[in-house]
Amino acid sequence: MDERIIDLPKIIDVRGNLSFIEENNHIPFKIKRVYWIYDVPGGEKRGGHAYKENKEFIVALSGSFDVILDNGKERKTYSLNRSYYGLYVPNGIWREMGNFSTNSLALVLSSTRYDKSDYVYDYRCFLEFVK
Ligand code: TYD
Repeated sequence: MDERIIDLPKIIDVRGNLSFIEENNHIPFKIKRVYWIYDVPGGEKRGGHAYKENKEFIVALSGSFDVILDNGKERKTYSLNRSYYGLYVPNGIWREMGNFSTNSLALVLSSTRYDKSDYVYDYRCFLEFVK
Protein backbone atom coordinates (compact mmCIF):
# COMPACT_ATOMS: atom_id res chain seq x y z
CA MET A 1 0.00 0.00 0.00
CA ASP A 2 1.27 3.49 -0.79
CA GLU A 3 -0.42 5.07 2.21
CA ARG A 4 1.81 6.73 4.76
CA ILE A 5 1.88 8.78 7.92
CA ILE A 6 3.15 12.29 7.16
CA ASP A 7 4.61 14.41 9.94
CA LEU A 8 3.57 18.05 9.71
CA PRO A 9 5.54 21.11 10.76
CA LYS A 10 5.09 21.85 14.45
CA ILE A 11 5.89 25.36 15.64
CA ILE A 12 6.29 24.97 19.37
CA ASP A 13 5.44 28.12 21.29
CA VAL A 14 4.71 28.88 24.92
CA ARG A 15 1.57 30.65 23.63
CA GLY A 16 0.39 27.38 22.08
CA ASN A 17 1.64 25.17 19.26
CA LEU A 18 0.86 25.60 15.56
CA SER A 19 0.92 23.19 12.62
CA PHE A 20 0.08 23.70 8.96
CA ILE A 21 -0.35 21.93 5.64
CA GLU A 22 0.60 23.23 2.18
CA GLU A 23 -0.75 21.51 -0.92
CA ASN A 24 1.83 19.76 -3.10
CA ASN A 25 4.37 20.31 -0.36
CA HIS A 26 3.49 18.49 2.85
CA ILE A 27 0.87 16.41 1.05
CA PRO A 28 1.29 15.04 -2.50
CA PHE A 29 -1.81 16.61 -4.10
CA LYS A 30 -3.65 19.88 -4.69
CA ILE A 31 -6.49 20.44 -2.21
CA LYS A 32 -9.90 20.69 -3.92
CA ARG A 33 -12.07 20.06 -0.86
CA VAL A 34 -11.94 20.06 2.92
CA TYR A 35 -14.43 18.29 5.17
CA TRP A 36 -14.52 17.20 8.76
CA ILE A 37 -16.26 14.52 10.80
CA TYR A 38 -17.45 15.37 14.30
CA ASP A 39 -20.11 14.52 16.91
CA VAL A 40 -19.65 10.81 16.15
CA PRO A 41 -21.74 8.80 18.63
CA GLY A 42 -19.82 6.13 20.58
CA GLY A 43 -19.35 2.88 18.65
CA GLU A 44 -20.27 4.37 15.25
CA LYS A 45 -18.22 3.68 12.10
CA ARG A 46 -17.69 5.84 9.03
CA GLY A 47 -16.32 5.09 5.60
CA GLY A 48 -16.81 1.59 4.28
CA HIS A 49 -15.91 2.52 0.71
CA ALA A 50 -13.05 3.29 -1.67
CA TYR A 51 -12.49 6.13 -4.13
CA LYS A 52 -11.50 5.54 -7.74
CA GLU A 53 -9.67 8.88 -8.08
CA ASN A 54 -9.86 10.86 -4.85
CA LYS A 55 -6.79 10.98 -2.63
CA GLU A 56 -7.10 12.08 0.98
CA PHE A 57 -5.11 13.25 3.94
CA ILE A 58 -6.69 12.64 7.34
CA VAL A 59 -5.71 14.41 10.56
CA ALA A 60 -7.07 13.90 14.08
CA LEU A 61 -7.41 17.59 14.95
CA SER A 62 -8.84 16.57 18.29
CA GLY A 63 -9.28 13.26 20.13
CA SER A 64 -8.53 9.96 18.46
CA PHE A 65 -9.90 7.41 15.99
CA ASP A 66 -8.72 4.48 13.89
CA VAL A 67 -8.46 4.35 10.10
CA ILE A 68 -8.54 0.84 8.67
CA LEU A 69 -7.10 0.53 5.16
CA ASP A 70 -7.40 -2.42 2.82
CA ASN A 71 -5.86 -2.70 -0.66
CA GLY A 72 -7.59 -5.99 -1.45
CA LYS A 73 -4.59 -7.98 -0.29
CA GLU A 74 -3.76 -6.66 3.16
CA ARG A 75 -5.45 -4.67 5.89
CA LYS A 76 -3.76 -2.18 8.22
CA THR A 77 -5.08 -0.10 11.11
CA TYR A 78 -3.71 3.37 11.84
CA SER A 79 -4.56 5.08 15.13
CA LEU A 80 -4.57 8.84 14.73
CA ASN A 81 -4.43 10.89 17.91
CA ARG A 82 -2.24 13.98 17.35
CA SER A 83 -2.84 17.09 15.23
CA TYR A 84 0.79 17.33 14.00
CA TYR A 85 0.68 14.32 11.70
CA GLY A 86 -1.80 12.72 9.39
CA LEU A 87 -2.46 9.72 7.17
CA TYR A 88 -2.15 10.01 3.40
CA VAL A 89 -4.60 7.64 1.70
CA PRO A 90 -4.13 7.20 -2.07
CA ASN A 91 -7.05 6.35 -4.34
CA GLY A 92 -8.01 2.71 -4.82
CA ILE A 93 -7.92 1.78 -1.12
CA TRP A 94 -10.88 0.54 0.92
CA ARG A 95 -11.30 2.78 3.96
CA GLU A 96 -13.12 2.46 7.25
CA MET A 97 -12.99 4.75 10.28
CA GLY A 98 -14.00 3.81 13.81
CA ASN A 99 -13.18 3.85 17.51
CA PHE A 100 -13.85 7.59 17.64
CA SER A 101 -13.18 9.12 21.05
CA THR A 102 -15.67 11.53 22.59
CA ASN A 103 -15.36 14.97 20.98
CA SER A 104 -12.94 13.72 18.31
CA LEU A 105 -12.57 15.83 15.18
CA ALA A 106 -11.31 14.30 11.92
CA LEU A 107 -10.10 16.76 9.29
CA VAL A 108 -10.01 15.38 5.75
CA LEU A 109 -8.30 17.11 2.81
CA SER A 110 -9.34 15.77 -0.58
CA SER A 111 -7.81 15.94 -4.04
CA THR A 112 -11.20 16.07 -5.82
CA ARG A 113 -14.52 17.82 -5.32
CA TYR A 114 -17.36 15.66 -4.02
CA ASP A 115 -18.39 13.24 -6.74
CA LYS A 116 -20.79 10.42 -5.92
CA SER A 117 -19.65 8.43 -8.95
CA ASP A 118 -16.09 8.29 -7.60
CA TYR A 119 -17.18 6.02 -4.72
CA VAL A 120 -16.98 2.23 -4.70
CA TYR A 121 -19.44 1.18 -1.99
CA ASP A 122 -19.47 -2.56 -2.58
CA TYR A 123 -16.49 -4.54 -1.29
CA ARG A 124 -16.73 -7.14 -4.05
CA CYS A 125 -16.78 -4.38 -6.69
CA PHE A 126 -13.72 -2.91 -4.95
CA LEU A 127 -11.87 -6.23 -5.24
CA GLU A 128 -12.71 -6.28 -8.97
CA PHE A 129 -11.58 -2.64 -9.28
CA VAL A 130 -8.13 -3.27 -7.76
CA LYS A 131 -7.55 -6.55 -9.59
P1 TYD B 1 -19.49 9.68 3.01
O1 TYD B 1 -18.33 10.08 2.17
O2 TYD B 1 -20.14 8.36 2.67
O3 TYD B 1 -19.06 9.68 4.56
P2 TYD B 1 -18.07 8.69 5.34
O4 TYD B 1 -17.08 8.15 4.38
O5 TYD B 1 -17.45 9.54 6.41
O6 TYD B 1 -18.91 7.63 5.97
O7 TYD B 1 -20.55 10.85 2.98
C1 TYD B 1 -21.69 10.89 3.79
C2 TYD B 1 -22.73 11.80 3.15
O8 TYD B 1 -22.23 13.12 3.05
C3 TYD B 1 -23.14 11.37 1.74
O9 TYD B 1 -24.53 11.53 1.64
C4 TYD B 1 -22.45 12.35 0.83
C5 TYD B 1 -22.26 13.58 1.69
N1 TYD B 1 -21.01 14.29 1.38
C6 TYD B 1 -21.04 15.43 0.62
O10 TYD B 1 -22.11 15.90 0.18
N2 TYD B 1 -19.86 16.08 0.36
C7 TYD B 1 -18.67 15.61 0.81
O11 TYD B 1 -17.60 16.24 0.54
C8 TYD B 1 -18.65 14.40 1.58
C9 TYD B 1 -17.35 13.83 2.09
C10 TYD B 1 -19.83 13.78 1.84
